Amino acid sequence: MLVLGIETSCDETAAAVVADGERVLSNVVASQVLTHEKYGGVVPEIASREHLKKISLVVDEALTQAGATLSQIDALAVTEGPGLIGSLLVGVVYGKGLAFSLCKPLVGVNHLEGHIHAVLLENKRAREANPVIREAELPAVSLVVSGGHTSLFLVRTHQEGGRLRFQYQPLGRTRDDAAGEAFDKVAKLLALGYPGGPIIDRLARFGNASALDFGRIKMRGNPLDFSFSGIKTAVLYRVRGTALATEAESRRAWRKTVTTRVTADDARSQCSAATLDLVASFQNAVVTDLVERTLSAAETTGVSTILVTGGVACNSLLRARFAETANARAMTAFFPSPDLSTDNAAMIASAGYYKLAAGERAGLPLTAHATFPLGQ
Ligand code: KG4
Ligand code: ZN
Repeated sequence: MLVLGIETSCDETAAAVVADGERVLSNVVASQVLTHEKYGGVVPEIASREHLKKISLVVDEALTQAGATLSQIDALAVTEGPGLIGSLLVGVVYGKGLAFSLCKPLVGVNHLEGHIHAVLLENKRAREANPVIREAELPAVSLVVSGGHTSLFLVRTHQEGGRLRFQYQPLGRTRDDAAGEAFDKVAKLLALGYPGGPIIDRLARFGNASALDFGRIKMRGNPLDFSFSGIKTAVLYRVRGTALATEAESRRAWRKTVTTRVTADDARSQCSAATLDLVASFQNAVVTDLVERTLSAAETTGVSTILVTGGVACNSLLRARFAETANARAMTAFFPSPDLSTDNAAMIASAGYYKLAAGERAGLPLTAHATFPLGQ
């Protein structure tokens, strides 16, 4: 079954063609990062207008790269939420229009469900190339960690009328900022560039992660919930009124003089050792919290498979720390490769395939939802 996936929940216009939920024939992403860079964050109104401009081109490119025509597509899957409402609407309306005009089946997919399927998709892709690679067996605990989300789910499958169904049980979620949002805001405060996650990841390698102790993040109530607003504020207090603030201001002024795109290495040349220590310590505190709560969720639920996904899953310290600590507890952590970690439509096509195969169909009432909880 050839599924055309469409994803427009935030600032990436994406389309992909995936065969039988597991073979990625194309995965096209038009990023708006350069458009939003000067604002230091995604501007929703601009994002939806950009999606409108690019959606047709991106879908055409995904079909061309897959060597498929629209008539060869068996079904469509589109992200219905959560995300920016204006952005989501572009994908949903486009997908609906295409599906109904072609008389093809359509399903709506939860963006977080897509991220979870990205890990399973990656695992199938890797095992196809090298069968020795371990299978990501379910049940599993999944950490979905991006600029908009930080959530833990227990992922299971069951048979319903002879058909495979995925089930997602929420275990915890952030009560304030998402982890990626904290990375982006700290980078903005320090005038390091946008998006902040990849830049901090790179700069942190040159700092001392034990230089500053931000302490453990304590949670009242559900111990599997997250909170990153406190650490973001702690960084602000470390910077405000100090030499670090003056340095950030001169970096801001320097950035205005640079006409080409500022790379992490350019930014590093403008950072003192104290700034590098600050970002390394900040990253260390966030990663420690993410890893500990996820492993604790796996222990509580008695599973040994961990699926880590979303933009922050690209983080090199997070990957290294999971590999090391999960191994020590006889667990295995699986990650998507970077192209499947950040927002993409292959993950939506793959998640959609299983819904379609189970007989799910969306009708004309399908619409976008800014808030759209996954599972119960
Ligand atoms: O999944 P994604 O593309 O979009 C959302 O659904 O939010 O994630 C984007 C987020 C941004 O906050 C970005 O700073 C973060 O992922 N990110 C990283 C890294 N690469 C991307 N955060 C930490 N380290 C990275 N290497
Ligand atoms: Zn995402």
